[in-house]
Amino acid sequence: MNNISKLISLLGGTGAVAEKLKIRPSAISNWKKLDKIPSTKLEAILELSSYLDVNIENFFPSKKLNNLKFKMLLIICGGIASYKSLEIIRLIKKTDIELDVVMTKSAQKFITPLLVTSLNEKKCYIDLFSVEDETKMNHIKLARNPDLILVAPATANIMAKFANGLADDLASTILLASFSKIIFAPSMNPIMWNNLATQENYKTLLDRGIKFIEPDTGDMACGENGIGRFPEPKTIYEFILSYIKESQMLSSQFKNISIVITAGPTVEAIDPVRFISNNSSGKQGFEIASELTKRGAKVTVISGPVNIPFPNCENVIEVKTAQEMFNNVTQQLPADVLICCAAVADWKLIPKTSTNNIIDLNNKIKKTNKNLFFETIKNPDILETIAKSNLRPKIVIGFSAETDNIKKNAHSKLISKNVDLMIANDVSNNKVFGEDYNEVCFIYKDNYEQLEKQSKKSVAYHLANKINDLLVNFKKEA
Ligand SMILES: Cc1cc2nc3c(=O)[nH]c(=O)nc-3n(C[C@H](O)[C@H](O)[C@H](O)COP(=O)(O)O)c2cc1C
Repeated sequence: MNNISKLISLLGGTGAVAEKLKIRPSAISNWKKLDKIPSTKLEAILELSSYLDVNIENFFPSKKLNNLKFKMLLIICGGIASYKSLEIIRLIKKTDIELDVVMTKSAQKFITPLLVTSLNEKKCYIDLFSVEDETKMNHIKLARNPDLILVAPATANIMAKFANGLADDLASTILLASFSKIIFAPSMNPIMWNNLATQENYKTLLDRGIKFIEPDTGDMACGENGIGRFPEPKTIYEFILSYIKESQMLSSQFKNISIVITAGPTVEAIDPVRFISNNSSGKQGFEIASELTKRGAKVTVISGPVNIPFPNCENVIEVKTAQEMFNNVTQQLPADVLICCAAVADWKLIPKTSTNNIIDLNNKIKKTNKNLFFETIKNPDILETIAKSNLRPKIVIGFSAETDNIKKNAHSKLISKNVDLMIANDVSNNKVFGEDYNEVCFIYKDNYEQLEKQSKKSVAYHLANKINDLLVNFKKEA
C-alpha cells in the first residue's frame, strides 16, 4: 500500500474523504493510484488530517518538521496583543524552525527586547541604524534570509506603511526589501479594522499576494466588541505549520519537470533606428516562471526586451525578434511543458525603398515627402508550429490576447493550434499590458473557467495548479 492510500484509509477511506471534500470517489482512487495529491486539494487534506488528528508527517517523510531547515522572521508590532507573540515564539522554539525576531519601537512599549531575546535565545533586532548590525547590511540580510516573514500582531500602522511602500524603520524596510512569503496577523480595535483606510490597505496587500490570518471577532481589551481580536497563538502557530508543510510539499511538486516559457514582446527592426513592437511588459510570464520555479520545476524563460528584473529561475535567454525566440524555444526542446506567454510580432515589415527590399540595419531610411510602403512577412507562429510538431511537449499552453469575442476566438485558436489550455485576456483599451493585474479566462477544449481580476502573481499561482492537474491527467492517459 503506498503512502497516499495509507493516508486516505486513516482519514476514513475513499468514500468518506470524497464526501468530506465534495469530490468524486474516482478522483481519490486516482490519487491513490498515482501516490500523489493534487496541489489544489492539499489544503483540504491538511485541514481534514488536523481535524481528525492524523499526523500527516508520517506520510510525507521528507517533509518532517524536524528536518525543515526552515527560516522564519517574526516581526512584532506595537499593539495590545504584542505579549501574545511571546507564546508564538515559545511554540516555534519547539520545532527546528530557525527563528529571528524584529520588534518595532512601539512593540517595545509593550514587551521588552530582553524578554524576546531570552525566549528566543538569540539577539532581537530593533534598530535600522545600528552601527554594529549594519556593518553586515543586516536589514537586507534579515529581509533575504527567511523563507517566511510573520508580522504578528500586525498593527493598522504597519499595514498602512507596507501598502504604501514606506520604509522608515527596521520592520517596514525589511518588508519592502524581501522576496519571502509574508503573512500578516492583524489585531486592532474593530473601528480601526473597519476603517476604509485599513480595509483598502488590507485589500491592496491581499492583491499583492500577502497572506492574512484573519482577526477574530469578540470582546476586545479596549472594552469594545467586534472584529479585530488577535487569534490565539496556537491557531497562528498551527496556521504557520500547515503553511510550511504545504509549501514544502509544493516545492517538489514539479521536480524533474522541465518548462519553457516565452515572455515579453518581440522587436522587429525596420532599419537601424526604427522598429515595431508591442506593450508587453513580461510581468505575467515572469510571475509564472517564479511560481513554477518555487514548485521545483526546471524553468527556462525566453524573453524579449523588457524593463523589469528577471525571475529567479534556472535560465533566462534574451532575444529580440520572433525568429530568434522561435529558434531558442526549439533549442530548449524536448521539455515537458511549453507556455507561450510572449506577445510575438506576427509580421516583419520590409520597407520598400528605392535601394532595396530588405531590412538594412546599416542604413537609416531617409525621410522624404513620399509615402513609405512595407511588405509584410509572416513570422513563425511559435505556439502552433511546436504544438503540431514531433517535438511537442506533453502540455502546451498559449495566451490569447483578444479585443473582441474573447472566449470564442481563444477557443478557435486552441482547436486550430492543437493547444491544451488557452489563457484568454481582454487587451482592449490598453488593459493588461504593463499592468500588475490580469483578468483571464482558462479555455479548455470542452469547458472554460473565468477567473476574477487579480494580481499576475495570483494568476500564476492558479495556472501552476492547472498545470499540475494537466500533468496528472497526461500521466493517467499515457
Ligand atoms: C495601549 C495601546 C494599545 C494599542 N493597541 C493597538 C492595537 O491593538 N492595534 C493597532 O493597530 N494599534 C494599536 N495601538 C496603536 C499603535 O501602537 C500605534 O499605531 C503605533 O504607531 C504602531 O507602531 P508599529 O506599527 O510601528 O508597531 C495601540 C496603542 C496603545 C497606546
